[in-house]
Amino acid sequence: MPAQILSATTNNIALAAAALRAGDVVAMPTETVYGLAGVVFDEAALTKIFGVKERPTFDPLICHVPPKTAEQTSWLASLGEQGLVDDTQLSSPARERVEKILTAFWPGPVTLVLPKQARVPDLATSGLPTVAVRCPRHPVAQALLAAVGQPLCAPSANRFGRISPTTAAHVQAELGDRITFILDGDACAIGIESTVLLVERDGRVWLLRPGGLAAHEITRVTGVPIELRSFSSVETATPIPSPGLLASHYAPRKPLRVLDQPLAQMSEAALLSLFETLPPGARIGVLLAQSETELCANLSLHLYAVLGPEAELASIALSASGDLAESARRLFAALRELDDDPYVDTIWAEQVTDDGGLGHAVNDRLRRASHP
Ligand code: TXA
Ligand code: MG
Repeated sequence: MPAQILSATTNNIALAAAALRAGDVVAMPTETVYGLAGVVFDEAALTKIFGVKERPTFDPLICHVPPKTAEQTSWLASLGEQGLVDDTQLSSPARERVEKILTAFWPGPVTLVLPKQARVPDLATSGLPTVAVRCPRHPVAQALLAAVGQPLCAPSANRFGRISPTTAAHVQAELGDRITFILDGDACAIGIESTVLLVERDGRVWLLRPGGLAAHEITRVTGVPIELRSFSSVETATPIPSPGLLASHYAPRKPLRVLDQPLAQMSEAALLSLFETLPPGARIGVLLAQSETELCANLSLHLYAVLGPEAELASIALSASGDLAESARRLFAALRELDDDPYVDTIWAEQVTDDGGLGHAVNDRLRRASHP
């Protein structure tokens, strides 16, 4: 039986919470992407998450927590009380820095990797001494966390390596035959996963995954000098700091090629040689950074000239105006649409403007989606 999509009424949230407390897994909305939730301290539920997603156990999960209460003196104290983070392993400058980041950005699209308490199951952290924590902003995720009364592990609700879901229908398409409930919270407002930061004992901060929150926002708003190092600079380090950051991820089933240059800026010769990389009759789906009506007419002409009358061209613009928030919000749905289009065999994607924030995260996802 396919999963039941539940509208986010109080009764349905209670139903989903009861299923979680009984050890089941439930798909829930967040402001970034939909997650597949299970209670952090329930190892059987965590085993189900890995099984349903076909996710290798070397890829650790993010623990989702509710906002801190008025009685809790700090975010770190609340993470300690929930049995997740051991802040005694952090220096006091590190603790201060973490608190500043969380006060500024939680609830929101940033995940912190911090020293874990012994109680956190190894399955949640892949045996690492650290745990990833995030407080989602989405009201339905918060209502579910409140109703369960325990933190929830929730990786994106897709099969491992595939395109992340940003609607309940996407979750149904990915996991509908494997789970009972999908809690519906409409289309995700951000559309791309959280930014993942690792905070070391001495307070140094590493960027493990670009995402919904721009790295420069973190340095700007906290006003503290944060040393943001990208994952690529530590790729050779052992053990690798974030085992889940594989080169290939977010992938459609069809081959995807990321273009070096926007199509509108390509010379005629460059366009022709691009088409010549495909067999006659090829059917191309183009993900445009913004809408270019004239460009598409021009492209079709070249397409038929090089690939013959059987060739096809479909296109989707991430944003009419090139707005990066809109591009991030639409990215995974657009990739999914081209992947599901029966008249498309191969996908070409333009990169968006790299603003160091959402644009950077969109290009990161496209690169990983293109990795064979
Ligand atoms: O926006 C999000 O973060 C979404 C929503 C559902 O909250 N969740 C999500 O989870 O993207 P997932 O499992 O698809 O990605 C978790 C990332 C992985 O890249 C994993 O390697 C990293 O976080 N991670 C988790 N625990 C870690 C740890 N202890 N050390 C380093 N990286 C960790
Ligand atoms: Mg994921």
